[in-house]
Amino acid sequence: MAAYVCTRYCINKFKDSIRFIPRRYRVKTKWAATRPKFPATELALHNFDTSYSIQLRDLWPSIRVAMLCEQKYGALINSFSSAPNVIIDLEARGCKDFISRPIDCSRNEVHPSSQDSTTSHRDSTELEPAAFQPSISPDIKCLIFPQGDISRFKPSRPDSSGILGYYLLDAASVLPVLALDVQPGHTVLDLCAAPGGKTLALLQTHSVNYLWANDLSGSRTMRLRRTLQSYLPKEFLDENKIHITSTDGRQLGMTEEKRFDRVLVDVPCTTDRHSAMVEENNIFKRSRTKERQKLPLLQTQLLLAGIQATRQGGHLVYSTCSLSQLQNECVVQQAISLAQQELGIAVQVQDLRWFAQRFSDTFHFAPQLSVGELVLPYLCANFGPIYMCKLQRMN
Ligand SMILES: C[S@@+](CC[C@H](N)C(=O)[O-])C[C@H]1O[C@@H](n2cnc3c(N)ncnc32)[C@H](O)[C@@H]1O
Repeated sequence: MAAYVCTRYCINKFKDSIRFIPRRYRVKTKWAATRPKFPATELALHNFDTSYSIQLRDLWPSIRVAMLCEQKYGALINSFSSAPNVIIDLEARGCKDFISRPIDCSRNEVHPSSQDSTTSHRDSTELEPAAFQPSISPDIKCLIFPQGDISRFKPSRPDSSGILGYYLLDAASVLPVLALDVQPGHTVLDLCAAPGGKTLALLQTHSVNYLWANDLSGSRTMRLRRTLQSYLPKEFLDENKIHITSTDGRQLGMTEEKRFDRVLVDVPCTTDRHSAMVEENNIFKRSRTKERQKLPLLQTQLLLAGIQATRQGGHLVYSTCSLSQLQNECVVQQAISLAQQELGIAVQVQDLRWFAQRFSDTFHFAPQLSVGELVLPYLCANFGPIYMCKLQRMN
């Protein structure tokens, strides 16, 4: 009897366990006629491992880890919103504005000056103390949690007219706008503007007299419009100070030649952090290989258009969210020589060492670049990558 009970018990247990075995489907084994499908994120990481381990050497493993961890955001304060206590509430949670921090004059900060594009501005290791502090727009405020604090921001609340109090973005992406140094009365072109984080930062300066925000993609331009509608009062949008278009930025160089005091060229790139983490809309998908390979050419053409649209003596900033030398320094060098050879335009690289030093408490900058500055993802301050290079049109 005991043996019978035991056998029934075992059979029932066996049936139970069968019920929980996930159903397996028979799959025909066959020789693949197409290439095996790898996730685009895997392809991106493989590509990065190959190129960045050479470019960034022993910095690459820690940058890789940071890029695969949660990115840190900043809250770009919207000064057009009348929502009460936005800054006070954020400060009560431990956030601080990284832009308006007091300047430590005992540090070796460097004069802003122009430099020849062909020389490495990292060659001189001795930095002179700065005699004066160059201007950083005091009107742009971006609050971040302290180093090592990975708290998340709550969604922004609207004021009584529906205008939102802050915009969440990678805090390092405010740097190209700060480097552009918009002054009162300036006309500004934002050549690749959608979804509009930097456009919004440009407007926070309250210095822009006229802003042309353009993006090739119709759907992304719609997003840009919606962003501006959520952050700017209707009256401000009705003032005709902002012109939004959806056209190929490469054409604006010819049609708008020498028109702008300041031009932001925030180009499409391999968006390294996104490509390493997110499958959707990933430029490393096999179907987008050609598009990806053509990026440096498109970036050079967009930068050339930006140079053409800048007035004599005006400034432009080229930026990407990639670590790639091919999309960063190489594009800048190539555009400078093409501008000279093909268009007779002389362009000078502006030294941003002082700028990188000014923000080195917040961001981790790459040590050895031939031109421009690069924010490296870093676990304790997980912003970037953001590359920026400032240029001045000389004639
Ligand atoms: C890095 S995103 C710009 C991000 C934007 N500046 C911001 O801060 O929100 C690059 C943009 O370039 C646009 N783009 C791509 N090709 C372009 C072209 N030929 N002319 C103008 N925009 C282009 C893309 O649609 C994309 O929105």
